[in-house]
Amino acid sequence: MPYICPICQLPLVQHIPSKGYYCKKKHHFDLAKEGYLNLLPVQHKKSKDPGDSRAMMRSRRNFLESEYYLPMAKAIATLIDKYKPESRPMHVLDMGCGEGYYSRQIKAFCECSADIDLHGIDIAKNAIFAAAKKQQNAHFIVASNKKPPYADNFFDLILKVYAPSNENEVKRILKTKGFLLTVTPGPKHLWQLKEFIYKKVNEHNITVDLPEDFEQIESQRISYKIKPDQISRMALLQMTPFAWRVKNEMLNTIQRANGLEIETDFILTLAQLKLKT
Ligand SMILES: C[S@@+](CC[C@H](N)C(=O)[O-])C[C@H]1O[C@@H](n2cnc3c(N)ncnc32)[C@H](O)[C@@H]1O
Ligand SMILES: [Zn+2]
Repeated sequence: MPYICPICQLPLVQHIPSKGYYCKKKHHFDLAKEGYLNLLPVQHKKSKDPGDSRAMMRSRRNFLESEYYLPMAKAIATLIDKYKPESRPMHVLDMGCGEGYYSRQIKAFCECSADIDLHGIDIAKNAIFAAAKKQQNAHFIVASNKKPPYADNFFDLILKVYAPSNENEVKRILKTKGFLLTVTPGPKHLWQLKEFIYKKVNEHNITVDLPEDFEQIESQRISYKIKPDQISRMALLQMTPFAWRVKNEMLNTIQRANGLEIETDFILTLAQLKLKT
């Protein structure tokens, strides 16, 4: 079984008639109508609505659904196909999956799609609700990446696109020889948008810190220019961490900057877990 109880860490078993999940200590978790599980007990929450807000989630969905990041999503699918294991199914986790764009692209573009048992986790309930509603061929849970309630050694590959995680927990839930695929911003990512916001724009550091016991297998830099329309440009701004810095006047300027070309720059790093210490 993929899940463990977030309260006592015993395995969770599905009760077929109700579709809810139980552990031996009788902690119980209902499956929501949209098909996701909420495995974030109230006592583990640090705020009422942890994670990204509904507004950020909507902006992200609007922007991503316009396919401006499709080349990067396809590169993720290609890497998954290239490193698929011999054993079936391949258990894949989209960590900090948000509203599920990359999960949907994995199922749409991986040649080995039918062999993928796909899971998504995010701490934001609104995002998981939206992800599950749109995708029935994946298993979504509301829970924290810091303490993901999955069984030890369950996953063959973990994807992390701009999301936080806990190194030890990544190692615990990944099989030995399993893969961690991380997407981080490259040096020039969203350069022209940042020029509106910062007096001096600094390049991101290109080096990606790998967790201990992982070995880098491949690294790809994908960069290209996009020309988002006004709605997508504003959605892109709203989904970035620098949105809160933007004053109204600047917001209007960016809104009027029709035809603005923006560089995207992504670093995809594939690392393999060599051994468990
Ligand atoms: C920048 S967004 C990226 C979402 C998605 N990977 C994408 O690229 O569309 C970061 C996501 O991490 C989630 N997040 C933040 N802290 C988290 C945690 N402790 N556990 C799980 N998810 C978390 C947020 O709710 C948000 O959906
Ligand atoms: Zn329990």
